[in-house]
Amino acid sequence: MEKNKKVLVVGSGGRCHAIVKALARSPQVGKIYCAPGNAGIAEDAECVSIGVEDVDALVEFARDNAIDLTVVGPEAALAKGLVDAMDAAGLKAFGPTKAAARIESSKEFAKQIMAKYNVPTAGYEAFDDFDKAWDYVRNRPLPAVIKYDGLAAGKGVVVATSYEEAEAALRDMLLDASFGKGRVVVEDFLDGPEFSFMCVVSGNKVYPLAVAQDHKRAFDGDKGPNTGGMGAYSPVPFVTEEIRSKALEEIIRRTADALVAEGVPFKGVLYGGLILTEEGPKVIEFNARFGDPETEVVLPRLESDIYELFDAAVEGRDCETRWSDDAYLGVVLASEGYPGKYVKGAEIRNLDKVNAEVYHMGTKREGDRLLTAGGRVLMVVGKGKTVAEANAAAKAEIEKIDCPSLFHRTDIGKASL
Ligand code: AMP
Ligand code: GLY
Repeated sequence: MEKNKKVLVVGSGGRCHAIVKALARSPQVGKIYCAPGNAGIAEDAECVSIGVEDVDALVEFARDNAIDLTVVGPEAALAKGLVDAMDAAGLKAFGPTKAAARIESSKEFAKQIMAKYNVPTAGYEAFDDFDKAWDYVRNRPLPAVIKYDGLAAGKGVVVATSYEEAEAALRDMLLDASFGKGRVVVEDFLDGPEFSFMCVVSGNKVYPLAVAQDHKRAFDGDKGPNTGGMGAYSPVPFVTEEIRSKALEEIIRRTADALVAEGVPFKGVLYGGLILTEEGPKVIEFNARFGDPETEVVLPRLESDIYELFDAAVEGRDCETRWSDDAYLGVVLASEGYPGKYVKGAEIRNLDKVNAEVYHMGTKREGDRLLTAGGRVLMVVGKGKTVAEANAAAKAEIEKIDCPSLFHRTDIGKASL
């Protein structure tokens, strides 16, 4: 096989870094560009300074550079119609169209699909009027699950344990419109451990990836606000083969088939954010893309060629994948204050001493100094034969990093240690 394929990865976070690293292992891939990338990605790919939502410039770049495949990371690019534009230009792109990506960008669309096709999930009501929403919520039991209906980087969900908190969340989303003008979905509260099941999907074809678990809350013990994700690991021992196969059939395949039946076939990563209830796995949310930080612990386990998988999905071909039994556990180092206001520009020292994979989420280089440049900054991923071993490896390496303005959780993977 010739190592001559050229790939463009769109995005700048840890997820993109992991995709870039996986592509670099492909026996077919000769050149990787990343738009816009970050300081860490620049060590593994050629970064080009085009923003993820600059659809025209990305299409032009792919055309001018004879890119064989564009892999779209972030939801914002999908929602802007980047894949539609690539398709229209006759360029191969891995990711869903804008219409299919609504499974993530519109909570209500996702809920309607699940209701119509009997995909297990929490019951819900949608509102755009504050008074009606508040009236509904205050007459129901707590906790109240309130979700902004639109893209809010994982932060538009409040699981309120008091009516004051629920009212404040509704006020914030509907009256103050802090994420933009929109609707909210109020859901039944589901109880159980959560896991992330990402599958590559191409119409009716489903190619499952390894299961992972994310940790969404900012602080240890699942305390504090929801974030984009503070750490993850894979495999997840409590997700038995029976549970996984039920989730695959009743959730992922059913949804892939539903989207075909609705005339919006899905191509890309369909990410099921699932919860294991007493009645079996149910959907908390769908994403239309790789999860961050799950990708950083799932893709290192992929032993087969990721380019072949992406290309097969774009072309609708069959493709077998192979997975290692090793465990990977990653801890996110985030800027003090995240997911609220945080400081940028703090220097990160001693990264060169770390003996583990480090994925850059929000960094930048200034001269020979590496600086923080985002809420989530780095993810350190340990490897081992078990989750406990991977955890010990990650912990030991994090200690070496010197940057006082970063914080991290110390209990990632606790349910599986
Ligand atoms: P989401 O962004 O929709 O994944 O929600 C963020 C987090 O809120 C999830 O990871 C869950 O911990 C929690 N959550 C969301 N929906 C529910 C629900 N219906 N029941 C219980 N917890 C939920
Ligand atoms: N880790 C959750 C997400 O990517 O949305």
